[in-house]
Amino acid sequence: MKYIHNGKYMNSNPGKKKTAVSKKGKSSNRDLTKLMENISHPSHGSIMPYYKSDGFILYNDDSLEILERIPENSVDMIFADPPYMLSNDGFTCQNGKMVSVNKGKWDKSSGFDEDMKFHEIWISACRRVLKPEGTIWISGTYHSIYQCGFLLQKLNFHLLNDITWFKPNASPNLSCRFFTASHETVLWARKDKKAKHTFNYELMKNGEFPEDKMKKENTQMRSVWSIPTPPQNEKGSGKHPTQKPLALLKRIVAASTNPGDLIIDPFNGAGTTGIASQLLGGRNYIGIEINQGYCDLTVKRVEKLKEKNAGAE
Ligand SMILES: C[S@@+](CC[C@H](N)C(=O)[O-])C[C@H]1O[C@@H](n2cnc3c(N)ncnc32)[C@H](O)[C@@H]1O
Repeated sequence: MKYIHNGKYMNSNPGKKKTAVSKKGKSSNRDLTKLMENISHPSHGSIMPYYKSDGFILYNDDSLEILERIPENSVDMIFADPPYMLSNDGFTCQNGKMVSVNKGKWDKSSGFDEDMKFHEIWISACRRVLKPEGTIWISGTYHSIYQCGFLLQKLNFHLLNDITWFKPNASPNLSCRFFTASHETVLWARKDKKAKHTFNYELMKNGEFPEDKMKKENTQMRSVWSIPTPPQNEKGSGKHPTQKPLALLKRIVAASTNPGDLIIDPFNGAGTTGIASQLLGGRNYIGIEINQGYCDLTVKRVEKLKEKNAGAE
């Protein structure tokens, strides 16, 4: 099935490739290279990575185009931060100034039914590539998160948690007619109801989370996380309107993956998931981003990190 979303051609018919990257155990760099070869194979229209580095691959394309080239049951974890569908010409407050809420054409709603179709198509494509024990995280606000949560249930995912990401430094509400929006929801679900997923419980309980004023030392990690919006030093390479803080993504990646795992972000944006995976080390990452400018921003961030690491050696 093919259809148009926000002027962009979408394909909802994921391929039927059967071979998993690693039937059991972890994906390796060799597996990642094999995967890349599969994606770029001329038999289904060659697509080359926009950028690749050790354990980090970025595609400048529609995520459905790339996901359909990835073998089923091959991915350990997906973090998806889909369009919020909130760019409705309204206004918000940023650094004390009134600014438009519009984030770009990609963030415009096409109406409830079309938005629902879009979410169903990409979530189904993610489901196909996830391993049975693989998990998906989906973040969003009330504009999109209920649709995504409904679809996770409809598509037979097993919901594990709904995390409230509380932003202690959220911008004030200008109209003074509503409560100030100061959180986002991050859903966490496993593909197969019966499989055993990765949860690094001890690390979440005993790890260090200095940014989170609500997390008490040596106590279980709860489902409300207090994490400020990205600090200036995470925005030095350029601007993305919905960039997530590294502390949020580092926590997600650390909680639900191990070294060697394959992580995909189908809405890469500024590449925060990939950068977090690199900071934690040993993970393999594939990011997919339709906007070339955001791909360039991601590349700058990765290169900066590599320079920093080289300087530290
Ligand atoms: C909410 S933002 C993600 C921000 C990201 N989590 C970060 O920390 O920077 C969603 C991104 O998805 C991209 N996008 C929208 N539709 C897409 C599609 N069909 N395929 C790939 N990327 C898409 C947009 O360009 C945007 O950068």
